[in-house]
Amino acid sequence: MCGIVGYIGMQNAAPILLEGLKKLEYRGYDSAGIAVMQNGSIAVSKVTGRIAALAEKTEHGSLLPGTVGIGHTRWATHGAPTDANAHPHTSNDGRFAVVHNGIIENYLELRKELMEKGYHFDSETDTEVVVHLMEMYYQGDLKQAVMRTSARLCGSYALGILCSDEPNRMFAVREASPLILGVGVGENFFASDVTALVAYTRNAIYLDDGEFAELTPDGIQVYDCTGQPFRKKVSRISWDIQAAEKGGYEHFMRKEIMEQPRAVKATMAPRLKDGQVVLDDMEIDLHGIRKIVITACGSAYYAGCAAKYAIEKLCHIPVQIELASELRYSDPLIDATTLLIVLSQSGETADTIAAMKECQSHGAKALAIVNVVGSTIAKLADYCLYTWAGPEIAVATTKGYTTQLTALYLFALYGAKELRTVDEAEYQKKLQVLKALPKLMQQALDMNPNLEQLAKKYHRAHSMFFIGRNTDYAVALEGALKMKEISYIHAESYAAGELKHGTIALISEGQPVIALCCNDAITEKTMSNIVEVKARGAEVLAVACRDNQKIVSLADDMIFVPKVEPLFSAAVEIVPLQLLAYYVARENGCDIDKPKNLAKSVTVE
Ligand code: F6R
Repeated sequence: MCGIVGYIGMQNAAPILLEGLKKLEYRGYDSAGIAVMQNGSIAVSKVTGRIAALAEKTEHGSLLPGTVGIGHTRWATHGAPTDANAHPHTSNDGRFAVVHNGIIENYLELRKELMEKGYHFDSETDTEVVVHLMEMYYQGDLKQAVMRTSARLCGSYALGILCSDEPNRMFAVREASPLILGVGVGENFFASDVTALVAYTRNAIYLDDGEFAELTPDGIQVYDCTGQPFRKKVSRISWDIQAAEKGGYEHFMRKEIMEQPRAVKATMAPRLKDGQVVLDDMEIDLHGIRKIVITACGSAYYAGCAAKYAIEKLCHIPVQIELASELRYSDPLIDATTLLIVLSQSGETADTIAAMKECQSHGAKALAIVNVVGSTIAKLADYCLYTWAGPEIAVATTKGYTTQLTALYLFALYGAKELRTVDEAEYQKKLQVLKALPKLMQQALDMNPNLEQLAKKYHRAHSMFFIGRNTDYAVALEGALKMKEISYIHAESYAAGELKHGTIALISEGQPVIALCCNDAITEKTMSNIVEVKARGAEVLAVACRDNQKIVSLADDMIFVPKVEPLFSAAVEIVPLQLLAYYVARENGCDIDKPKNLAKSVTVE
């Protein structure tokens, strides 16, 4: 949700800011802007629309010379996507410029106070109060003004601040929104995410909440919330620049779909040792755990829905899945005998963070399954399993989801061993299935050359239904989300048995129904539902194993998947559905990596 960058050094800042913003565009892309300091003044350029438009407007940055600057790409919260609402915002006297990611919750009262004092507002944003507070509190000491301003703000904010009176430094502030400092030689940076930094430096400082930093070309000084300077560890960024590039693919989403076998292997490899699952990163005694609560948002929540079956079956512990946005306000029945599992690719999802804090305050320990190293959730959790998927740039998650599933499967097997809930032979059998997942996912990618053709057939549909039972139902949830978010086709998922309790009224001639039938134990039941919808004219596209002849003869079209033990099959079944959604979106001319109204990393409530 919004991306911010900052540069201070010897080079012209604007091209570096634009490059950084391009990398952050997945965080929000309805407007953008940069501010650059030169000769004691701040020049600002903003556009409604994408970074490409900003690059064009500024002639690739050449119209804003200067070696210190800040930039922003916006996902609108307060106020429509307009030039006026785009960041950076400037103070009335023109001496300050501010970029902001997050939400200032008390902005209305601050706005009223500032207006009464004579400050005028040019935008509808919550952010603009920050820049006027800076002007109000600045009396020749920028650090003091930053501290006094921050002390007035409630909510979440990562801020980048310039002051034309102090041309050789800039400030970055973090409270509940991601902010990373890039440590260079003769130049320094800040950004919402390491992808904007890796082209320039691999050395990063991860700011924590309440901390702020002063950046000059020659150094970075981090301060705690009381203004005390202290030394902060410099970490090495392990992602390389190629990982954040398209690598010859037309879209990041396609690249990330294809990367999944490798990503799943990377999640597993460090945790498989001497014929067993080893979770070094988690020293928890599962014997005292009476209940597991999994919480997350969106696809991550659906990963939890799919893995619930494996955890319950293998660990014999009841698993409850909760949407983070609901759990946080539900006063949950959770205590120290509950293990909370928090899933998040970005590690920055606001609702997930809040739900985690709520459950921790009830005494539960939190195990986070997170992709982004050093992210807020990773830091706040009691234990953390990184998924090691590499950067996920496409807004719609693919490898984020399948690696979350993989980490949960690993946890399920680990738990089964710890709790002795499966015998050794069964444990080894399941372990072999897990190890085979990358290969099976690759097969699922390879065995469906017809997906593009299927997309041509189905892309004009007004709506689609995804149905399945048990683990197939969990995959249907994610399959439908993928379809709707990138192709803009209305897609609903239903537990197949539920159709006849109302929804079947919507089935009429030509209605596409995607039926998942990969779980042998219940395939017959789902087939009855297929017969029911076909009798009402539905066009059925079934997802099943090739040897399931009954389905092949029943369905209008087929997507094949290799045979997989149902407990772990979601990671394989979803792959062709991701690709189908991708091709349908492409047929419909959609902006696949940046679907409308969405942004990755939802750092607002
Ligand atoms: C859908 C998608 C979202 C995310 C959700 C949680 O393709 O990407 O539904 O899964 O916003 O994000 P994280 O995992 O970053 O917490």
